[in-house]
Amino acid sequence: MSRIIAVTNQKGGVGKTTTAINVAAALALAGQRVLLVDVDPQGNATSGVGLKNQAGPLGTVYQALTGDEAQDPDGFLLQSSIDGLMVAPADRNLTGAELELIALPNRERRLADFLAPLRDRFDVIVIDCPPSLGLLTLNALVAADTVLIPLHCEYFALEGLADLVATMRRVRAALNPALDIEGVLLTMYDERTNLGQQVAADVRAFFKEKVYDTVIPRNIRLGEAPSHGLPAVTYDPRSRGAEAYTALAHEILARHVADSEQRTANSE
Ligand SMILES: Nc1ncnc2c1ncn2[C@@H]1O[C@H](COP(=O)(O)OP(=O)(O)O)[C@@H](O)[C@H]1O
Ligand SMILES: [Mg+2]
Repeated sequence: MSRIIAVTNQKGGVGKTTTAINVAAALALAGQRVLLVDVDPQGNATSGVGLKNQAGPLGTVYQALTGDEAQDPDGFLLQSSIDGLMVAPADRNLTGAELELIALPNRERRLADFLAPLRDRFDVIVIDCPPSLGLLTLNALVAADTVLIPLHCEYFALEGLADLVATMRRVRAALNPALDIEGVLLTMYDERTNLGQQVAADVRAFFKEKVYDTVIPRNIRLGEAPSHGLPAVTYDPRSRGAEAYTALAHEILARHVADSEQRTANSE
């Protein structure tokens, strides 16, 4: 059973793209078949894996979402430099989709329909969302099984989360009843500050066991890697940031195994 994970938080700069890229790459390095889907018009996930301004034979996620629904989904995929990691790239054109989608039939389900025929070819599909709760993010929440929420360890970390939680509730009620939380990830953590520790404690009190044990430290390599067109986990695998994302990928896989054992036990 494949799993579609939307990496989302409507705040910018909290580590969504860094998380999407490095989790996708680390899962691929762990032997999973992974598809990274860039749904942000900034295209940072696309450039972060070295595919800036590249498109599949039929185009990018923009054409996949706004074009004829009967198109071959393979026409929008690119192979990355990492075995087992494919990418559905995005570029600036996707900005227009936010408006163009409004007039299209099935406007909230376009991404779900695009990904449906690809599902059985991948173990994990990771969607990098834009910093808003607009139609593109809505498409991601409708397509996804779960959401992974990165939280920047700073004073306002929890601010605005009520909007995300409310949006998820609306999506569950109307469009995707099974949508669940994959996990909450503390990012850019600086253990030397009391503030970082306090925010981490608050987030754990609020989201409880949904919060990953793995915490992503503030690490310069994570910021540098995108300019080399490589995920940090391949750019400098021994850096603290890369090691944290590798540990996170293993924690995610361990949770998936525990979930499916639980499901099997429940069905017996
Ligand atoms: N743990 C980290 N340590 C240091 N820099 C980081 C870390 N995570 C992300 N960054 C950098 O912070 C900026 C914002 O991160 P990004 O992943 O693009 O956030 P978002 O996608 O939520 O806007 C980027 O320049 C990124 O390289
Ligand atoms: Mg981003």
